[in-house]
Amino acid sequence: MGQTAQPSNADLEELEGEILSEISSASDLAALEATRISALGKKGRVSALMKSLGQMAPEDRKTFGQSVNKIKVSVGEALDGRKAELAHAALSQRLATESADITLPVRAGALSDGRIHPVSQVMDEITEIFGDMGFSIAEGPDIETDEYNFTKLNIPEEHPARQEHDTFYLNEREDGSRLVLRTHTSPVQIRTMEASEPPLRIIAPGRVYRMDSDQTHTPMFHQVEGLVIDEDTNMGHLKWVLEEFAKSFFEIDNVEMRFRASHFPFTEPSMEVDIRYAKVGDELRIGEGDEWMEILGCGMVHPRVLEHVGYDPKKLQGFAFGVGIDRLAMLKYGMPDLRDFFAADIRWLKHYGFKSFDVPTLAGGLSS
Ligand code: DAH
Repeated sequence: MGQTAQPSNADLEELEGEILSEISSASDLAALEATRISALGKKGRVSALMKSLGQMAPEDRKTFGQSVNKIKVSVGEALDGRKAELAHAALSQRLATESADITLPVRAGALSDGRIHPVSQVMDEITEIFGDMGFSIAEGPDIETDEYNFTKLNIPEEHPARQEHDTFYLNEREDGSRLVLRTHTSPVQIRTMEASEPPLRIIAPGRVYRMDSDQTHTPMFHQVEGLVIDEDTNMGHLKWVLEEFAKSFFEIDNVEMRFRASHFPFTEPSMEVDIRYAKVGDELRIGEGDEWMEILGCGMVHPRVLEHVGYDPKKLQGFAFGVGIDRLAMLKYGMPDLRDFFAADIRWLKHYGFKSFDVPTLAGGLSS
């Protein structure tokens, strides 16, 4: 019975021509897809030919099969070609209609409405000051391992500092370990030392997290870590760097700092540093009055921390510090409540935020 159903070569050619012309006249991707389905789809015209193979005599089957395959290939190629053409045409049309004339002047609202958040601005100021002193920027992840956030910083499992940090823990992993939201930027010290050869001079600004909330504490806040490692850096250098930083940052010469002996597991000796200020009405005046505000912790890097990263504490030494960025911003720009920083209140941002062209530079004046 096969003979009756078998299409001739002329039929095949006609079908091929028909499909190819449908393809070349498809005016969009949807039309092209409809043609593809009606030709090569399960119930399509070419697929139907394949089905008729089963009813043919074996000697016919071979040549017929080859002819149908050729059609399949040429139809496939034509489909791909037309698809690329249509995609290109669609893109060209978008480019033509969606073009922007970048020579036009900036619209009135755009520049005057947008504001840079004071925390971003202060981070840029800090970066500018330390950049000028030869520090580069280092970074680490917000989600840390227990090892980097604590253990390698000489805060072992049973150390009370682990409780003091009010850590946010993530769910336990299969091996029983738990990742943490980093409670300080100090793990970046470890990551940087592990990844680089001394000497080092870096700062690492970023977000940190602790379960805490009141007028001067929020669950997420910002710190900048500093680390200097070489063969003979000492406390004198540390004090000089911090004092120069404070003078530049507050843009006054009479910043007064008080270094108090303290304790951090990753430094020995350790200090906390306060800055003198006066509160006059709602205004905070740096360098005057009898009030002291703690702004940072610092010290000489503990030899055990150096050992943990494979540095030889007999050859290398250095200092580290960790500064609360939000505190600095509150002091410098007189913002009384830290929680407002993260309340996403447009009125607050309009009042305390910075214009986008107020890029802080030492040459141009940080905040002017
Ligand atoms: N990581 C400490 C904290 O968040 C701050 C700190 C203290 C950082 C002393 C240091 C340092 O690098 O040397 O409380």
